[in-house]
Amino acid sequence: MSAEATRGHAFDGIEEFDNRLPNWWLWTFYLACIFSVFYWIHYHTIGSGALPGAEYQAEQREAAARLEAAAANSPITEASLQELAKNPAVVEEGRKIFQDPAKCALCHKPDGSGNIGPNLTDDLWVYGGKAMDIYTSIAKGRPGGMLPHEMYGVTFVQRATAYVLSIKNTNLPGKAPEPNAKKEQ
Ligand code: HEC
Repeated sequence: MSAEATRGHAFDGIEEFDNRLPNWWLWTFYLACIFSVFYWIHYHTIGSGALPGAEYQAEQREAAARLEAAAANSPITEASLQELAKNPAVVEEGRKIFQDPAKCALCHKPDGSGNIGPNLTDDLWVYGGKAMDIYTSIAKGRPGGMLPHEMYGVTFVQRATAYVLSIKNTNLPGKAPEPNAKKEQ
């Protein structure tokens, strides 16, 4: 090693050279600085770019919309409803419907534990706890005060069904079971 300039400090006999940083290193550093300015403006200042979280949410919504459109155009079956109930974006839309104070939450409470309407979180059902039974209860209504909801459209009823399937059997303490309710998984 030639006699190169050092920084003038030593620790345990180890000295530090005062070398010039290589150009390739400096340029990657400068370019990263310039890039960060554009990145910051694009994502954080004017918000013209979607951050990964938002992009993921948008993709989830798109996938849910495709799934729902396909389901709305084909016959509604036990399997198609179970499929929707597995999609978190559909269940999330159903949750919004259910917890809307003017909709299901009015009679079933926001957590589904029952008020005027029965507790939907238990395993006891008057009209059946299968996906198709729940779908029919929501779409057509039931004589004891359950309103029909089919006028809001197939997607609405599918989302509400997906949400009810997601809270079914979570067994929240709530309204006492109806005397004519039967146990069903
Ligand atoms: C105006 C009050 C009211 C609203 C609003 C309402 N329900 Fe109900 N719901 C009831 C009542 C009362 C019953 C019991 C009907 C019966 O026993 O004949 C019921 C029954 C049900 C059942 C059948 C339960 C069983 O044991 O078989 C389901 C499922 C259900 N509701 C889901 C919903 C969903 C989802 C919504 C919102 C989209 C909703 N309900 C909105 C009052 C309501």
